[in-house]
Amino acid sequence: MSRSAATKMSSLFLRQLRPLFFSTSITKTSGIPRPASVGSLRIPMLQLRNWSNLAEEEKRVQLPAASAAAAPVSDGQDEKRVVSYWGIVPRKLTKEDGSAWRWNCFRPWETYKADLSIDIEKHHKPVTLMDKFAFWTVQSLKYPTHLFFQKRHMCHAMLLETVAAVPGMVGGMLLHCKSLRRFEHSGGWIKALLEEAENERMHLMTFVEVAKPQWYERALVFAVQGVFFNAYFVAYLASPKLAHRIVGYLEEEAVRSYSDFLADLDKGNVENVAAPAIAIDYWRLPPDSTLRDVVMVIRADEAHHRDLNHFASDIQCQGHELREAPAPLEYH
Ligand SMILES: [Fe+2]
Ligand SMILES: [Fe+2]
Repeated sequence: MSRSAATKMSSLFLRQLRPLFFSTSITKTSGIPRPASVGSLRIPMLQLRNWSNLAEEEKRVQLPAASAAAAPVSDGQDEKRVVSYWGIVPRKLTKEDGSAWRWNCFRPWETYKADLSIDIEKHHKPVTLMDKFAFWTVQSLKYPTHLFFQKRHMCHAMLLETVAAVPGMVGGMLLHCKSLRRFEHSGGWIKALLEEAENERMHLMTFVEVAKPQWYERALVFAVQGVFFNAYFVAYLASPKLAHRIVGYLEEEAVRSYSDFLADLDKGNVENVAAPAIAIDYWRLPPDSTLRDVVMVIRADEAHHRDLNHFASDIQCQGHELREAPAPLEYH
């Protein structure tokens, strides 16, 4: 072999080896990220930190097709399949008419018909100092919010829901920790508050289908959530009865905001578009429902949250603990 041929062969050989030994890039195979150098020639010098999970990665890739086929039904947006090593096979769900259930975020047994007969006008009269403090805290938050959104009901509703979904989660989490610390039952209140948070989040998921938030609205939500989550967390730690009273008054304002929304829908100031599919399934609405029908059921939900939170505050104002009164589960 001539000298130039030997040089060419050795440079070709080195070019082949370079990605195997020195590359840190990641490639995708069957949906599982894998180191680029995993192949038939294997002692990658720079990938020793990945060594422990290489075998695991190989096993996952070699799963039978049945696991891949068991990918969950998506929310109708992302059809990417997930390969599971763990053999978790989600249940195949259907609607009453036999068609496939398309939502992962809630299941058929979590859907309900809203109770529209609830009293919309009900109001807790602030009598004690604590009530008055809670009432005026909410009133002082209400005016700048109305000034900011004015007649932009959809944006107002979206921001309101991002805030409204926080107290239930914070209260539920703190009651959960309290139950663990004290080795005692919660009376169902953990679940009731988490249900409320989930219900509020479904309101948000519904509005997101009708109106897409702008970047500055997302930024506003980011800032408001940071402040509100922490403020409510501290308030609930300090005085759960005050925290529930504040939420009771917030819900009263939510009912009023949705009444204004309905008034503008009736006047034609807001277009009464078709109800999104997620709302039709969640509230078991007729297929030809409109935005007005959706706002009606959401307002009814808010009225239920109002009652639940004032009730939670009343229990504690009367000198009892929440767990002593059975929680109104599935009350929304
Ligand atoms: Fe809500
Ligand atoms: Fe609410």
